[in-house]
Amino acid sequence: MPIKYELIKTCKQTGARLGRVHTPHGSFETPMFMPVGTLATVKTMAPEELKEMGADIILANTYHLWLRPGEDIVEEAGGLHKFMNWDGSILTDSGGFQVFSLSDLRDIKEEGVHFRNHISGEKLFLSPEKAMQIQNSLGPDIMMAFDECPPYPASHEYMKSSVERTTRWAERCLEAHKRPNEQGLFGIVQGGEYEDLRRQSARDLVSMDFPGYAVGGLSVGEPKDVMNRALEFTTPLLPDHKPRYLMGVGSPDSLIDGALRGIDMFDCVLPTRIARNGTCMTSEGRLVVRNAKYSRDFRPIDEACDCHTCRNYSRAYIRHLIKCNETFGFRLTTYHNLYFLLNLMKQVRQAILDDRLGDFREEFFEQYGFNKP
Ligand code: GUN
Ligand code: ZN
Repeated sequence: MPIKYELIKTCKQTGARLGRVHTPHGSFETPMFMPVGTLATVKTMAPEELKEMGADIILANTYHLWLRPGEDIVEEAGGLHKFMNWDGSILTDSGGFQVFSLSDLRDIKEEGVHFRNHISGEKLFLSPEKAMQIQNSLGPDIMMAFDECPPYPASHEYMKSSVERTTRWAERCLEAHKRPNEQGLFGIVQGGEYEDLRRQSARDLVSMDFPGYAVGGLSVGEPKDVMNRALEFTTPLLPDHKPRYLMGVGSPDSLIDGALRGIDMFDCVLPTRIARNGTCMTSEGRLVVRNAKYSRDFRPIDEACDCHTCRNYSRAYIRHLIKCNETFGFRLTTYHNLYFLLNLMKQVRQAILDDRLGDFREEFFEQYGFNKP
């Protein structure tokens, strides 16, 4: 088995898990946030910088790399790790979600999904078999099953047929996966906000014995309490000795609330995307460094942060760069935001070790401004 999960400790106050995931490219402590590098680059960051800030695993996308440059080119380069000069762990999403979020013309059939290329308009087809072939060629440590991520809200009737198809697709993924000793394939539990469907999805996927499980179909526009409730009844259905990954979640509050409910891994474009329009995550909430009020503010983005950006550059300077569309500005905010989330997860892990994640949540929310009216 290429993926192993080691449970180190459970928080006595909350039940959150401190653990370690081992992959063919090393290991990482959990709960962990995975920076997103859709096109085999975490936008504006060099792999050396990601290493330096403590990222041990990053994410890339099957769909995007299939279209450009093509998985055959990545394979010829010796796989994703060599192609992008990243020797840490890599996880690829299967393309299912991207087809649903990027393409408006799509047709879901039992065999797979017909849709149009979001760049050229060309007709394309993705299926469980195709998604496995592409991910086997790309060579990440962890690959994801090809699933459907229905929108919110979706009727119980639609969700039930979708979950059942995703389960049949998961079986086809297991069957089509050609390198099970080198790459771990994770199953994705769907079912939206419906407890019976999450139960059915988890039961069926757990019986297929994937080396890890994701919770999908959340953070698709539902209220926070709907996501938290769905996690509360879903994570207990998953095996204790395997990693659990909450897909597409990356706001500081949701990371803490997910960890509290037994999630080990998270990913999201949020920190890197907002960084490129001049928004920073800080210990006191979001700071929009583009704002005119920072034009003469020579303090760092976050006075409590010791990242490379905050140790060396001011709000006024970064604002100037971003207002002028200077690439270096985007690099500085991206570095800070990723560092901030990786550091937040480090604090979460320490709080689990100290059996006080519930207290940590209260303190963090207070400071971040979530408890304000
Ligand atoms: N990213 C965010 N949510 C999902 C999901 O439900 N499925 C997949 N494959 N990727 C996601
Ligand atoms: Zn910083």
